[in-house]
Formats: sequence, C-alpha cells, structure tokens
Amino acid sequence: MTGGAGYIGSHAAKALRAAGHRPVIFDNLSAGHREAALDHPIVVGDIRDLDAVRRALRQSGATAVMHFAAWLSVPDSVRDPIGYYRNNVEGALTVLEAMTHEHCHHFVFSSTCAVYGEPIETPLRESHPHRPINAYGQTKLAVEQALPHFERAYDIRFVALRYFNAAGADPDGQLGEDHDPEIHVIPRALHAAANGTPIDIFGDDYPTPDGTCLRDYVHVTDLADAHVRALRRLESGGASAAYNVGTERPTSVHDVVNAVERVTGRKIERRQAPRRPGDPAVLYASAEKIRSELGWTPRHAELDAIVRDAWNWHSRHPTGYEGKG
Ligand SMILES: NC(=O)c1ccc[n+]([C@@H]2O[C@H](COP(=O)([O-])OP(=O)(O)OC[C@H]3O[C@@H](n4cnc5c(N)ncnc54)[C@H](O)[C@@H]3O)[C@@H](O)[C@H]2O)c1
Repeated sequence: MTGGAGYIGSHAAKALRAAGHRPVIFDNLSAGHREAALDHPIVVGDIRDLDAVRRALRQSGATAVMHFAAWLSVPDSVRDPIGYYRNNVEGALTVLEAMTHEHCHHFVFSSTCAVYGEPIETPLRESHPHRPINAYGQTKLAVEQALPHFERAYDIRFVALRYFNAAGADPDGQLGEDHDPEIHVIPRALHAAANGTPIDIFGDDYPTPDGTCLRDYVHVTDLADAHVRALRRLESGGASAAYNVGTERPTSVHDVVNAVERVTGRKIERRQAPRRPGDPAVLYASAEKIRSELGWTPRHAELDAIVRDAWNWHSRHPTGYEGKG
C-alpha cells in the first residue's frame, strides 16, 4: 500500500487487515504519519525510486498494490504542475514498472472525481466526459489512461476508484485526518470550532442554491470498504474497471459548517474569501455502478455522523498525530 501511512491509506489498511489480508505500507512519510501505520509493516521509501519499490514488492511477496501515494492539493497543482506530474504520474508509472518486474498483477488506484472537470450533467456517472480543469485531476487521468496499456502489455488488471470528498475518521477513534496544511473543509471547520477562529469560505457566488460549492462527502471507512471489495474483484478474476465512490448527496460548504456547529455545539464565524483556482461548482456522484458490481453502499452517509467521527478524533488529537512524520 503506497501512501498507506496517509489518511485514506491508513483506514484502508485497517479494513484490509480486518478482511484477512496482510497489508505492507510503503510511504516516504512526506505527508503520512508513522503512527497511522498502526502495527502494519512499513517500508519508508519514495515511489519514484524504482529499486526501492521493487525491493519492497519482492521482500513482502506482495500480490497486489494499492496505490494511494500522491499529492492532492488542487491549488498547489495549478501552481506546481511539474511537481504534480513527477509525483503523481512518474511516481505511479514507476510503481507499475516495478510491478511488471516483480510479477505483481493487481493494481487498485486512488483516482478522483477531479478527472471529470466541470460537469455537464449531474450526478456524475463514470461515462461522463473526462476533461479535468486542474493539473491534479489531469495527473490522475493520465495514470488511468495508462492502465489499459499496462494491462495489455503486462497483464496488470486494475480497479480505479474515483473518490469524491473523503471525510470523517475511524469510528473506533484509532485513525483520523491530519494534513498540514489542512485543505479539506471538515477538519478546517472543526479546527475553527475548537479554536474559536473564523473559517474562510472560498467563493460564495457559484451557481448553486447558497452560492458555495457542492461536494459529495464520503466516509473514509466506506472508502476503505470499497478497497476491500475492489481487491476481491481482482482476486476473483473480475475485469478491470473504474468506479465512482460517493454518497450521491450534494452538500454545500455552508451545509458542512452548519453540521460542524450542530455536532460541536459551537458557532463558527464564516469569512468570505476568493474562489480557489480549479474548483468546479458542483461535484457529486452516481454510485450506481459500484453498487451493482461490487455491492458497495455507504454505511455512514449522514453528514452529521461523518462530522461526529471526525470531531471525536479531532477533539482527542487537537494537534493531529503525536509523533509527527
Ligand atoms: N482526500 C481526498 O478527499 C481524496 C479525494 C480523491 C482522491 N484522493 C486520492 O487518494 C489518495 C490518498 O489521499 P489522502 O487524503 O489519504 O492523502 P495523504 O496525503 O494523507 O496520503 C498520501 C500518502 O502518500 C505519501 N506519499 C506522497 N508522495 C509520496 C512519494 N513520492 N513516495 C512515497 N509516499 C508518498 C504521503 O506521505 C502520504 O502518507 C491520493 O492519491 C489522493 O489523490 C484523495
């Protein structure tokens, strides 16, 4: 599991272990946390280092790779496309190349709804045109487009999971979201509630009912479950595929802040800020395909339940994981 010490990867590792797998984490800890790796074996290394990835695959005897490692800030990708192409595209290709050498044939890829770009139709189906409007989405699409070639030439079957907005935290309270800087609205709103500071609302003049962006917040534990199911599909000989992973519910930034106020019982000051570059107005999923083909449904779809789990972790870890790095 590349990036397995990160937010989504760590939750997926826990779910895979519970499903009887033996996850091994490969992470350079640039944004991940050793503590988030729990007691899974961890190899500290960079996905762009072919020899290191090959060695990790060989020594762990891995039969599948789940590839979470990437950078994921839309505005940063607009400012630094070189860095994003190197980490997200070159990094993924290096992992795939290592797999071809080490005879590893199953690949689960962390893709994103950002591959669609500005929607021409919602909810977004997998067949919606792919026209990313930022470098981040473009890097993920580039990897998705490479995958069928790797399948034809090297027999690597894949599942690309197009996550919508990952949110919440492990309901057992063991794992949570600790990004620095934090770019996601739920932890930013929780931080604002905890510290009595204002929250910036990036754009309130979008063509949506309350003027703020609409997104689809999916509980990280439900995302983790999608990985268990994706791997099962590959192991049972299923064909390569791409799936949306979302709740099908459009939620505005104000809805999120309202939920945080309800859950924490604290009022949050909202401060208008300019739009961020590369942010489409509306992104929410049709999850029909993953429901019918993988039997996946979100079990924690209520916004307040998502926020409550995030708040439980945040209030016990106000500065995030203790031993940083
Ligand atoms: N968080 C979301 O809402 C969201 C939505 C859609 C897609 N995704 C995708 O899901 C994946 C995981 O996201 P996350 O929120 O858990 O992010 P994260 O930053 O918490 O985790 C990414 C992990 O990858 C590691 N990493 C990054 N570059 C690396 C490199 N070169 N070598 C080795 N390790 C490296 C980091 O240290 C980190 O542990 C990413 O691929 C992201 O693009 C996330």
